[in-house]
Amino acid sequence: MAATRTFSIIKPDATRRNLTGAVTKMLEDAGLRVVASKRIHMTREQAEGFYAVHKERPFFGELVDFMISGPVVVQVLEGEDAVKRNRDVMGATNPKDAAEGTIRKTHAESIEANTVHGSDSDENAAIEIAYFFKPEEIVG
Ligand code: PPS
Repeated sequence: MAATRTFSIIKPDATRRNLTGAVTKMLEDAGLRVVASKRIHMTREQAEGFYAVHKERPFFGELVDFMISGPVVVQVLEGEDAVKRNRDVMGATNPKDAAEGTIRKTHAESIEANTVHGSDSDENAAIEIAYFFKPEEIVG
């Protein structure tokens, strides 16, 4: 199967605890390659736009506040079946439900401070990658 791409965010709870390397190693050990990466501090407008699909959900305000509470690392990951591979190593949204050995089971603090975001489909991966990266910033 050909390599595909997905989009990942290492969230503020992880950058605050200096876990960028530890999380990236778990992604790499799962067979994903970092083909683009940058550390940014999202603006409120950027975070609201990124999570616009969730704007009617009760936690939308808290989610945006959390995502702008510190720096994040946005990444493009490449690998075989990258979206699923990434979701598998991330683990369930709520770390209480996440399987042993996953990033969220190992590192997440709560359903909000859950260490990583990963695209949930190839279509959304393409949209999310384009939201943060120019094509020339991605080097496979
Ligand atoms: S998922 O992983 O997208 O399928 O999960 P979902 O339940 O749809 O959640 C969407 C994003 O919202 C975050 N989330 C929350 N934030 C704050 N408080 C509560 N209660 C909460 N529940 C879910 C969740 O971490 C997802 O963020 P991303 O960045 O997409 O992983």
